[in-house]
Amino acid sequence: MKNTRIIVSNKDFHKYSGSLAVVLIDEQKNIPSFLDKQIKRKIKKILNLGDFRGKKDEQLLLYMDSARSKGARSAERLLLVGFGNSAESDRSIVLDALRSGGGIIAQTAKKIKADEIMVVLPDYLENVPCYGAEQIVEGILLGDYQFVKYKKAEKPADKFSGIHQITVLARKNINGVRKAVRRAQYVSEAALSARDMANEPGNKWTPQHFVDFARSLARQSSLTCKVLNREQMKKAGMGGILAVSQGSAVAPKLVIVEHIPQRYTKTILLVGKGLTFDSGGISIKPSAGMEDMKYDMCGGAAVLSTMQALAVEQPDVKVVAIVPSSENLSGSMAVKPGDVITHYNGITSEVVNTDAEGRLILADALSYGIKRYKPDFVVDLATLTGAVIVSLGHHRTGLMSNDDSLAEKLAESGRICGEPIWRLPLGQEYSKQIESEVADIKNVGGKEGGSITAAAYLEKFVGDTPWAHLDIAGTAWDFTKKSYIPKGPSGTGVRTLIDFIRKCKKKV
Ligand code: BES
Ligand code: ZN
Ligand code: ZN
Repeated sequence: MKNTRIIVSNKDFHKYSGSLAVVLIDEQKNIPSFLDKQIKRKIKKILNLGDFRGKKDEQLLLYMDSARSKGARSAERLLLVGFGNSAESDRSIVLDALRSGGGIIAQTAKKIKADEIMVVLPDYLENVPCYGAEQIVEGILLGDYQFVKYKKAEKPADKFSGIHQITVLARKNINGVRKAVRRAQYVSEAALSARDMANEPGNKWTPQHFVDFARSLARQSSLTCKVLNREQMKKAGMGGILAVSQGSAVAPKLVIVEHIPQRYTKTILLVGKGLTFDSGGISIKPSAGMEDMKYDMCGGAAVLSTMQALAVEQPDVKVVAIVPSSENLSGSMAVKPGDVITHYNGITSEVVNTDAEGRLILADALSYGIKRYKPDFVVDLATLTGAVIVSLGHHRTGLMSNDDSLAEKLAESGRICGEPIWRLPLGQEYSKQIESEVADIKNVGGKEGGSITAAAYLEKFVGDTPWAHLDIAGTAWDFTKKSYIPKGPSGTGVRTLIDFIRKCKKKV
């Protein structure tokens, strides 16, 4: 992964002589106080003419006169980015406008191939911690992302390898800004690592790649890693993951990564669906768009990438991430509609539709993780149902939970991180839909309430443990268009989980 250098500086604006300087301006027409007079005058003139109004995501690129005042070199270009209404009372909107501004900066930098940029902190944002340095940098790093590994034909002259250096110009609270910027960096890197995994095609990202990633993470940090192979899963009785994987020559894996602080009182279990390709199995999917099913591992990518950030952050809460990983293919040994399987906790299930495989692998991982780690709460992330796209579109992640307080905390973290979450209910009526004539339960409950009946299936495996299920099928890719989320996988869930775990830490 590219390593962007980030410098926090309190030098004079005119001492910066790089290729792109950026100033954020709000609708109230505030201008950062520590710009030099000449620049301020220039910006004021533009604002008075009405050519730039500070509207959210508005942008204006100016070319500077480099032969300015004595000795002062100044930047070649000055980009004005609109911030919108800085008096907005909803904090999540203000924070997302900052990220969005960061994304706009990254898009412009790409257009003009500016690999070294400087951002003047909007110090008029007095109510935002560190004047939004964290969110601006997050937006730049997330917006600067590209996945070009397999593009070999592009001419070197057309290539832009991204932003290599960001200077953040600050005048107050320099240490706070440094910390904020550092946090933004490792959190964004984690989200980008989730995007990287997701972008890998199915032939290049198999269950073994999750194992390799987790092992390498553990080697480089205080995290530990354990892996269960097919034989161990057989011994343990994980009938769900074994059934899903039996139609493929690629071996399934159960990957476990742990963060164990010296002192802790709470344990959080994260479980992520790591289906590296979902053809549907014998209940095969239509071929149009099937290539997107390489993204069916985004839940697994999100939880392991979260661990990557926690290795840096070192929260004093124990966090265990489990990724059940498999392919879902239709080889001659494949599980068939009507087959009955037995899950890790002894519950039997009639596999009515082999395309509803996510819940089968998650069921084993959830019951195993809960039995083994006795967590205080569990969060699972999965691209589980097409139905969640029908209900919430690509704008919100679906949340189903047996615990109101956990659900509220997660939803609040999602809101603050620009990854909105919407809760759907659970209940007896839905559980009834998955009753089977031949086994304890069946793996589909009909078309109606498809996301909820999928969650009702998972609910059978969590007992009384507070649990929340995030259905990210609509948001893991094709997420709402945002400047800091380029086309393709979004890395959703990573920033929300980190924020959530940070808040759990405070509560213990
Ligand atoms: N991985 C899919 C869910 C999915 C569909 C994610 C579209 C993203 C976009 C999952 O395994 C699946 O196929 N679910 C079925 C369940 C059905 C058979 C009850 C679905 O949603 O159609
Ligand atoms: Zn499926
Ligand atoms: Zn799937």
